[in-house]
Amino acid sequence: MKTPSRLGTPLSSSATKVMLLGSGELGKEVIISLQRLGVEVIAVDRYPNAPGHQVAHRYHVIDMTDGKALAALIEQERPDLIVPEIEAIATPTLVELETAGKATVIPTARAAWLTMNREGIRRLAAEELGLPTSPYRFADSLDELKAACAEVGFPCVVKPVMSSSGKGQSKVDGPDEVDAAWDYAAAGGRVDAGRVIVEGFIDFDYEITQLTVRALEGGLPVTHFCEPIGHVQVKGDYVESWQPHPMHPEALRKSREIAKKVTDNLGGLGIFGVELFVKGEMVWFSEVSPRPHDTGMVTMASQVQSEFELHAKAILGLPVNTALRAPGASAVIYGGHEAKGIAFEGVAEALAVPGADIRLFGKPESFERRRMGVALAAAENVETARQRAKQAASLVRPVKA
Ligand SMILES: Nc1ncnc2c1ncn2[C@@H]1O[C@H](COP(=O)(O)OP(=O)(O)OP(=O)(O)O)[C@@H](O)[C@H]1O
Ligand SMILES: [Mg+2]
Repeated sequence: MKTPSRLGTPLSSSATKVMLLGSGELGKEVIISLQRLGVEVIAVDRYPNAPGHQVAHRYHVIDMTDGKALAALIEQERPDLIVPEIEAIATPTLVELETAGKATVIPTARAAWLTMNREGIRRLAAEELGLPTSPYRFADSLDELKAACAEVGFPCVVKPVMSSSGKGQSKVDGPDEVDAAWDYAAAGGRVDAGRVIVEGFIDFDYEITQLTVRALEGGLPVTHFCEPIGHVQVKGDYVESWQPHPMHPEALRKSREIAKKVTDNLGGLGIFGVELFVKGEMVWFSEVSPRPHDTGMVTMASQVQSEFELHAKAILGLPVNTALRAPGASAVIYGGHEAKGIAFEGVAEALAVPGADIRLFGKPESFERRRMGVALAAAENVETARQRAKQAASLVRPVKA
């Protein structure tokens, strides 16, 4: 495990250089944390003026799914660490470069590769590690999907193997809904449209993100857990999260056991968002992000060190503190318009809500359901924090400029 043993001065020959692959709102916060440690940051995204571009030392616009373009840029910049922030990257190229000793990928190139495809991580979790998951099948055609749904049983959930934020995903309640789910998945998949996973629908009581950090202590990676984060998803996209989510001690123990097994296998250093479904004392592994998690934005209000600071420190080989500071919550602020260069009104009113704070990501273009900002709140308990975050979010009004 190679991490910089000392930190340099940015823009000098001693610089510690980190390249972010993906520079959205999560990457932007990681970059700000790295900047505070004097790290030289190179932000990469597929469009100009992405949130992270605006706070990095320099930025590049490339198609990160293009392996040749990606390798050329890495060769040009020669970063000490490469930090994937999104899934849609030519991860086989990262594996090649890492194997050849030409790059260090966070947490590892293999982890980035396995988790970009639902099949890779699901087979690892269920078949190799024996973790409890929903029953599942894969399908490459409508006929295969019909058979797969019948085997898994209804209701089930159909998802493209390569997609995120709920894109192309649908719940299927009976055989007559399979055709529509196939068409929807084909339209929503990222690359390799055509292959889907069918998962049995888990009727969970609640779902959590178990943020798990691998950081060096005495030269060896040690696993640290954050308090569980509860969240609400609408159409596969998170709208609200809070921390800590109260859990039965046995469910918490199982959650952390699962998180430890999967992150031990993925290896490397940094933060992981392990997504779990919980019903009573039963816990199912759903998926894992080898990077900060969107539901974890709440940690900017609730933890001593946010998930972004934890990631930045862990990847540099520095110690971390996952302690909770106060119960907290986050609520998403959507664009509400299809327009470039929108403005936000009501920010002062939102900030007048006790314990509230906001982040506006600075995305150049707004869509109706694009996440443009987030309201955060801390309070003496989670219920109050949730009310405050939702109230603050509702006071921010995106308007066409
Ligand atoms: N098998 C399932 N049973 C019940 N609910 C499910 C199942 N699979 C997904 N969901 C619901 O849909 C949400 C999104 O699913 P999943 O995390 O697999 O999609 P995603 O596209 O990777 O989303 P994201 O990128 O936001 O994590 C889950 O958080 C959960 O609320
Ligand atoms: Mg998910």
